[in-house]
Formats: sequence, structure tokens, C-alpha cells
Amino acid sequence: APSVQPSSSPLRTSEGDEKYANVKWEELGFALTPTDHMYVAKCRQGESFSQGKIVPYGDISISPCSPILNYGQGLFEGLKAYRTEDDRIRIFRPDQNALRMQTGADRLCMTPPSVELFVEAVKQTVAANKKWVPPPGKGALYVRPLLIGSGAILGVAPAPEYTFLIYASPVGDYHKVSTGLNLKVDHKYHRAHSGGTGGVKSCTNYAPVVKSMVEAKSSGFSDVLFLDAATGRNIEEVSTCNIFIVKGNIVSTPPTSGTILPGVTRKSMIELARDIGYQVQERDVSVEELLEAEEVFCTGTAVVVKAVETVTFHDKKVKYRTGEAALSTKVHSMLTSIQIGLVEDTKGWMV
Ligand code: COI
Repeated sequence: APSVQPSSSPLRTSEGDEKYANVKWEELGFALTPTDHMYVAKCRQGESFSQGKIVPYGDISISPCSPILNYGQGLFEGLKAYRTEDDRIRIFRPDQNALRMQTGADRLCMTPPSVELFVEAVKQTVAANKKWVPPPGKGALYVRPLLIGSGAILGVAPAPEYTFLIYASPVGDYHKVSTGLNLKVDHKYHRAHSGGTGGVKSCTNYAPVVKSMVEAKSSGFSDVLFLDAATGRNIEEVSTCNIFIVKGNIVSTPPTSGTILPGVTRKSMIELARDIGYQVQERDVSVEELLEAEEVFCTGTAVVVKAVETVTFHDKKVKYRTGEAALSTKVHSMLTSIQIGLVEDTKGWMV
């Protein structure tokens, strides 16, 4: 018997309709609104994934001895589907998430779905939950693919079975701040180290940032910026997103050389900033440069593009440009206009 089974009852349709009618699209934050369906596929180790099934959304049962529960053998992805003014639903660059899942699966010794299967599964999940894609401009359907080691095995080794599961939730803004983020530079904990898993979307990269984030939030900060573990001199990533600094015509962001997640929004942003004449450098960025920058912003699927208003490093607090004059405002508008179909998708990013 498969070790992961959807365990919710199919009676969700009427429940789902009732919940749908009650959604206040304007008030969506980044929180789970359960939708109606999810996608599940399984594969034995050494075999490859074949097409899975759309099933009612609900809890799953899993062996207590699965590597995801015991050893964190799991990856997740995040991507978004948008509703256009003419009522089409389009997904932003799903092939990029599919490719990233392949790199991560290789790092964690897992069997990934093919790019074609991944994209098809995302399309099926979005189609099955299409009523949950918010109206244009009021958020997006956040799609969360998981690849987990689900087959029971006690020793540390590749799992005998993998599960590829996709669920979705309508979401609005990740950070509810009006002007920009107030970041605290963490000089105690690190997110990633050379040779580790910081460059892939391993589930294990995220639990360790929570302590630092909770501490910072309790002191009034929006989020935490981590430094490199080797020298503690260079900026790396915010807990759930990439970071960019701007000075004059130069936009800089830390390179994806192992400890930085290769964000799909990061990659898109580099392209958009170059399109409008900025020089974009992927290179080490020191804390000193961060503190001397004119502008700082974050990018991520959940975060989209978010200006940073202040950065605090020890007892030094620096304020940056935000608002109409900021590059982040311009690139945010360029990106979201493509996503919600206000401008032609000349890049072929929307599916
Ligand atoms: C995303 O932006 O999709 C992420 O993965 C961040 C998430 C942990 C909230």
C-alpha cells in the first residue's frame, strides 16, 4: 500500500463553495486558505514518476519511519498563478521551478518528476482549483509542490518511495508593511554554508531561520538578513527571499554559488533591470556596501519585489530610498504587469 494517502473525505465540494464565497480577496495575506484539490504522484526508488492524480485536498498519512519525517529528505517549490483582466489564468515560469526541483533532488538523492510532468501537474492543480485564483490585482494562487522521501526506511539512505504532491492556496502580500521592510542583520546564526544545501530548496533550510526571525519580529523588525558563514562579512539572503542593493546605475546581488537560492523572481529581476539599462552584478556584497547603498530590495515568489526601508546592523540603522523614485517600485510594476497581463508577455514567461 502507498505510504502517503489523502485522508480527507470527498464531501469538500459544498464546504469549498461556502469557503470560497466567504473569501475576502482584499484582505488576503500569506496564510493558508485550503482549496478543493491537490495532486499526488508516487514513485519507487529507481523508477520514474508517471502521471499522478488530482484528489480532494486534505491531510495525508505517512509512515513514521519516512525520511522526510526523520531526516528532512524533502524539497518544496513555490510558484504563482494569476487571473488576467480578460479572465484567463496564467502561471509564472513553472519550468524554472521544475528545473530547480531537479537540482535539489540530485543534491538530496531523490527521484524528481520530469520537467514536463512537473509543469503538467502544476497546470492540473491550478485547473482543479481555478475558482481560487483571486481576481486580477488582488493576489495570486500560490502553488506549493513538494517532493518528499515517503517510503519507510530506518537507516540514513535514499527512500524506497518518493511522493510528489502539489497543493495551492490563494495569497496576498507576504509582508504587510506599507513603505518597506525593516531588516535586522543577524550576526549570530547563519542560513547556509559552503557545501551545504543553501542553493537548493530543501525543507531543511527553513526551520533553522525561524528562531532568528521570531526574535527579530519580537523587537519590531520585519525580517532577518543572514551573513555568509565563512567570513561573516558578506550578505547572503533574507530568511525567505533574495536581496539586491542599488548604487547609482549598478544593481548587485550575491552570486548563486552554493549558499544562495537561485530564485526565479531573482533571475527575472536581473533580466528586467538589465532591460532598462542597469548594470547588474552577481558578486559578493559586503555589509559595508549594504550600509552605503542607496536602495535595497528583496525578491521572491511569495514576497514578489519588496523595498527595504531600513537595515539595522548592531546599533547602526540605515534608511534607504523607497516609493516612486525607487528602482524596486519600477521593477515591481514591470514584473506584475507581465504577470497579470497588463502588458504583453514578450519574454514568454507566462504559461
Ligand atoms: C517562496 O517565495 O515561494 C518561498 O519559498 C518562501 C516561502 C518559504 C514563504
